[in-house]
Amino acid sequence: MDWEQKLGELESQVTELLAQAGKAEDFLQIKQRFLGKQGEISNLLKGIREIPPESRPVFGQRVNQTKQLLEERIAEAARQAESGRAPGSGETLDLTLPGVWNPPGSIHPIAQALDEIREILEDLGFQIAEGPEIETDYYNFEALNIPKGHPARDMQDSFYIEDEIVLRTQTSPVQIRIMEKQKPPLRIYAPGHVYRRDMDVSHTPMFHQVEGLWVDRGITFSDLKGVLMLFAEQLFGEGTPVRFRPSFFPFTEPSAEMDIECHMCRGKGCRVCGNSGWLEILGSGMVHPGLFRRVGYDPAEFTGFAFGMGVERIAMLKFGINDIRLFFENDLRFLKQF
Ligand code: DAH
Repeated sequence: MDWEQKLGELESQVTELLAQAGKAEDFLQIKQRFLGKQGEISNLLKGIREIPPESRPVFGQRVNQTKQLLEERIAEAARQAESGRAPGSGETLDLTLPGVWNPPGSIHPIAQALDEIREILEDLGFQIAEGPEIETDYYNFEALNIPKGHPARDMQDSFYIEDEIVLRTQTSPVQIRIMEKQKPPLRIYAPGHVYRRDMDVSHTPMFHQVEGLWVDRGITFSDLKGVLMLFAEQLFGEGTPVRFRPSFFPFTEPSAEMDIECHMCRGKGCRVCGNSGWLEILGSGMVHPGLFRRVGYDPAEFTGFAFGMGVERIAMLKFGINDIRLFFENDLRFLKQF
C-alpha cells in the first residue's frame, strides 16, 4: 500500500472511532493509538528510508499535515463530548433533572458572639481599632505598667518570638497604640486574636478578646458602670443581675471585674459557677495615670475607663458550652447547632 493511501485510511479510521467515542478515556486511547510514540503516525514516519530520496520532503510534509489534522479533530471531539456531560460522570447532562442542593453553612459561634459584641459597642458609639498580633514587649507589657519581673507577667504565659518580640497576650496594647496616635476624646474597641501558652477545658493557645477604651474630660467610675451594665444586659438579656468586684490590673486604678448571675442555677450556686452563683465576664477599671503620661495625655485634664473580655468565655456562657476546645476542632456536628 503506498503511503498516500495509508494516510487516507488513517484519517477515516479516526473519523469512525471518534463517532463511537464518549468517555474521556476513549479519546485518550484514540490519541495514543494514532499519535502516540508507538502510534500509527510514528510508525509510518519510521518507513521514510524506503521512500525514494526525492519524494521524502513531500512525504514528511503530508504526514505532518495529517498528524496536525488528527490532533485537532480528536481534541475538538473530546471538547464537544465534555461539554455535553456532567463533569467526570461519563454521562450526558439531563437538564430536566433537579439541581444538587448545597446545604448552607452556619456562622461560627465565636463569630456570632463577636458580631453581637460589636453591634452593642457600636450602638454605644465605640469605633473599631486594630493593633498587631506580633507585638513588642514594650506595648504588650512595659507601657501597661508591667515591667520585667512584675508578677503580672506570670499570669500570662507568653509566646516569645525574639527577646523583645511577643505574640500579644492581650488586646490591651491597642490602648497605647491608639492613644499615641490620637488626641482625646476617644472611644474605641479592639477585637482580635491573643496568644498564651495554655491548653485545657477553658484555655486554648489562641483565643479572642475585645478591648474597650473611653477617654474624655470628666469620665468617672459611674460611666464605667453604666456602660458595662448596659452592655451586659444587651448581651445576656434584660434584667440579668450583674455585680462588680474589686480586682487588680496594673494598667487600671481602681480595677473591677464584672460578673453576671449564673444562668444555670439563677444565683443559687452550682457546678458551673463553682457554687458562687456568679460568672465573671470581663475585667475593667479607670485608666492608670501612668499610661496617660506615657502617651502624652495630661491626667489632670483627662480621665477614662477601659475593659477587656474573652470572647470564647462569653460564647461558652451564651451557648452553654463547657469545653473551649470544641470551638477549634471544626467538627460540623458541633458547628451546625448554632
Ligand atoms: N488585658 C486583661 C487580660 O487579658 C483584661 C483587661 C482587664 C483589660 C482590665 C482591660 C482592663 O482593659 O481595664 O486579662
